[in-house]
Amino acid sequence: MEETNLTDLIHKKTFNITTFGCQMNEHDSEIMAGMLIEKGYEQTADRSKADIVIFNTCSIRENADKRFFGTLGQLKHRKEEEGDAFTVCVCGCMMQQQHIIDQLKSKYPWVDVVYGTHNLHHLPELLDNLYEEKKKQLEIWDDAEGIVENLPAKRLFKHKSFVNIMYGCNNFCSYCIVPYTRGRERSRRPEDIVSEVRRLTLDGVKEVTLLGQNVNSYKGQSASGEAADFTDLIYMLAEIEGLERIRFMTSHPKDLSDKLIEAFRTCDKLCKYIHLPVQAGSDKVLKEMNRKYTGQSYLELVDKLRRACPDIAISTDIIVGFPGETESDFEDTLNLVRKVGYDSAFTFLYSVRQGTPAAAREDQVPEEVKHERFNRLVEEINSSSAEKNKAYIGRVEKVLVDGVSRNRDNAYEGRTDSFKLVNFEGPEGLEGQIVPVRITGANTFSLVGQLAEE
Ligand code: 5AD
Ligand code: SF4
Repeated sequence: MEETNLTDLIHKKTFNITTFGCQMNEHDSEIMAGMLIEKGYEQTADRSKADIVIFNTCSIRENADKRFFGTLGQLKHRKEEEGDAFTVCVCGCMMQQQHIIDQLKSKYPWVDVVYGTHNLHHLPELLDNLYEEKKKQLEIWDDAEGIVENLPAKRLFKHKSFVNIMYGCNNFCSYCIVPYTRGRERSRRPEDIVSEVRRLTLDGVKEVTLLGQNVNSYKGQSASGEAADFTDLIYMLAEIEGLERIRFMTSHPKDLSDKLIEAFRTCDKLCKYIHLPVQAGSDKVLKEMNRKYTGQSYLELVDKLRRACPDIAISTDIIVGFPGETESDFEDTLNLVRKVGYDSAFTFLYSVRQGTPAAAREDQVPEEVKHERFNRLVEEINSSSAEKNKAYIGRVEKVLVDGVSRNRDNAYEGRTDSFKLVNFEGPEGLEGQIVPVRITGANTFSLVGQLAEE
């Protein structure tokens, strides 16, 4: 009889990862893919044909939970038919919640491998164990184990990359599940980040997006004991040859320092764009959300940013229908939105998250009221976005070309320094380059242009 060892088995297996949620999750998926490819597995874009299906879950809102369970349920039939030849893995934020694990065990006992956000680097080992011992693998950790360095990642783009600089969040906004699923703040060492970015640039990366739930509270310490805050880190990275653009996600307004604002003026490589979640405009609601700033102090920050960098694009996150939100509170949000003039915004209906302080409140806003307010807010944001975009017409913008356009035939798409999506026509071979584009038209969510002379 022919003998097959584990390596042969792995070589024949394909995997597919479905990612729910934010950039952190997307990057975690890139790391999982990198590890599996290194082990000899093969990535496939077709979930229905993959031998191993991985779901990287998000718990930020209830509909993310529901969507995940809906998609997972669709695999039951295939699992019954194919048995051990088909592997189902679930991981990510939802798996850090006990009630989700309980639900998985009782309703989806056929899932093969379950792990959390802190131990995703164990995936290859968990699969080895599964195949060797023919036993389901469940492994969830808390955040006590610290940071694991030097994990490979399979990037989506050759010319740009996400880079984690910190993990977790200490803010405990009263609506948010993240501090419970991602644990307390942990910052990577500055030299580890610098060497990762250096390696990436040698591999063709021109733009990095530094990731953390609240990058402004990055507190790096080198092995020799030297401290570096977020702005120090940006300046260190700016020195790397070949790196042309530095972005970051996400900032908490309470920690946005004057030093960072000044960097927008002085550091050419720092992109003129900031995502600055405001969440609400009413001081009462902001207080109950535990956000630690007021509408006025937020507006002052915006003012400072624009004084330091007049062209800076600003986007935000807003929650509609936080418990106890009155019509007048909501109007404060609308007023703030009008005053800021956002380039874009992610708007969310407040969603009850079990275990957070706001979930226990009895004054939840009725769904129809939330929806009605949500629609009014979206209208306001869209008109602001359209107006901001219109101001670009006639300008020549430097665009980092991501690839062929998903929206237009025979066109490229890319991003300006200020993170505007641009569709434009140009000759072959521009992917991954930074090129000048004359903006000729503007829509609510994107710009249209033509390749310009250098
Ligand atoms: N309901 C609605 N939106 C939420 N967010 C976080 N928690 C909730 C919740 N329970 C939004 C916030 C945050 C973004 C990532 O998700 O606006 O900034
Ligand atoms: Fe959640 Fe607030 Fe932390 Fe953002 S800062 S992840 S909203 S707790």
